[in-house]
Amino acid sequence: MHVDPSDLSAQESYRLLTGIVVPRPIAWVSTLSGTGGVNLAPFSTFTFVAPKPPMVGFSVGRKGSTYKDTARNILTRETYVVHIADRGLMEPLHESAEEVAPEVSEAEMLGLETLPSDCIEVPRLAAAPVAMECRLRQVLEFGDTRSRFLVGEVLRIHIRDGLVRDGKIDSAELDPICRLAGPNYATLGEIRTLRAMQQTKKHSGA
Ligand SMILES: Cc1cc2nc3c(=O)[nH]c(=O)nc-3n(C[C@H](O)[C@H](O)[C@H](O)COP(=O)(O)O)c2cc1C
Repeated sequence: MHVDPSDLSAQESYRLLTGIVVPRPIAWVSTLSGTGGVNLAPFSTFTFVAPKPPMVGFSVGRKGSTYKDTARNILTRETYVVHIADRGLMEPLHESAEEVAPEVSEAEMLGLETLPSDCIEVPRLAAAPVAMECRLRQVLEFGDTRSRFLVGEVLRIHIRDGLVRDGKIDSAELDPICRLAGPNYATLGEIRTLRAMQQTKKHSGA
């Protein structure tokens, strides 16, 4: 089978891509709405883009002609928290994608406890094993749908005790969830360790 993307609608293309680019890590993002409620939503177009200062990015689409609450809140306040959810948080994470009015706090609706952040006014989720306080640094717009890729600098990283060994996160212990196509999720399968590559200091940030 061969596909010419110019024959596909945005929705058809989205369906294919979300099955091709798998598994995807998920940024579970808290923002503050105009009325001060804690907005929460998952975004699986997520990666890190630079290590120093640490920067992470994810892409937010639009609902019809308007941007989703997360993008609007981030562009207004320029601060947000990116969380990593573990297996136990799969259901609340999924539920937090429900479309609700901008003034409704998904964190409150789902009974998720929040904690004050250290560097920004946006609270973080107490239950998440990792929370990264972020300040918006760059917004890039892509495609006919004008999806916005939001890049933020990580100002503070909160990591649950016991997850870091020798400066590295223990992936099995973190037990993160990831997104497949549709309402499908996965957890980590077999982890195999291959030989470490020789890295010069010059290349270690690549
Ligand atoms: C696991 C998961 C990943 C998602 N990833 C994205 C994404 O990368 N980009 C996007 O625009 N919407 C994504 N969505 C949909 C948004 O979470 C959904 O539209 C949500 O209602 C947006 O909330 P907001 O209006 O409060 O920002 C995803 C949904 C789920 C369940």
